[in-house]
Amino acid sequence: MIRGLFITVEGTDGSGKTTQIVRMQEHLVSLGCEVLLTREPGGTRISENIRSIILDPVYTEMSNTAELLLYSAARAQLVEQVIRPSIAKSITVICDRYIDSFYAYQGFGRGTGYELLEKITGIAVNGTIPDITFFFDLDPEIGLKRRFAATGSDRIENEVIEFHRKVYKGYKILAGRYPERIRTIDASRPADEVWLDVRRQLDMILGFVKSV
Ligand code: TYD
Repeated sequence: MIRGLFITVEGTDGSGKTTQIVRMQEHLVSLGCEVLLTREPGGTRISENIRSIILDPVYTEMSNTAELLLYSAARAQLVEQVIRPSIAKSITVICDRYIDSFYAYQGFGRGTGYELLEKITGIAVNGTIPDITFFFDLDPEIGLKRRFAATGSDRIENEVIEFHRKVYKGYKILAGRYPERIRTIDASRPADEVWLDVRRQLDMILGFVKSV
């Protein structure tokens, strides 16, 4: 049996991921794939409850340790309950944010050491690593302006711009570290142009799904 592809989508806040995710899903379905769309933090009853705690702007007192453990708990539940069973059933999973958000935000943004994050991630995901990750590369200042104009802001988005700059720099470093897995997409272009790029990359990797 051929297992489903595991695709993750990453980027700083307001980088235009959502529009592209919807197009990815439609495209994959048109090619005959069964697709499941999910998100982090969230995607299960438990993880969505954890999400509401993590992102609530009211919890300004949240410690970095509590934050990283909450993200990890939400991730562990999603992996076990949704991601692993789905890919085992040949379903292609698209996850809006995953481990690279963790390394970029909690690692580069908050300053938690890579080794600790890697250890916790090992426990949370138990070897479930994406086949491919799209990193939507956009200056965080532009992204946040877009975001604030469209909706209100959550606890993470309320961080100072220096935090978002560190996160952005972190993503660039991660993309350089894992060039096979992480595909960088210039997200400063119009959505249709961005989509052409994403579709080309998607079509290229569709032939490389491994067996379970
Ligand atoms: P969300 O509203 O989903 O952001 P977006 O719409 O921009 O994708 O909020 C998720 C927030 O949580 C986002 O600011 C990134 C952050 N985050 C982390 O800090 N660590 C993580 O491990 C994950 C998955 C997300």
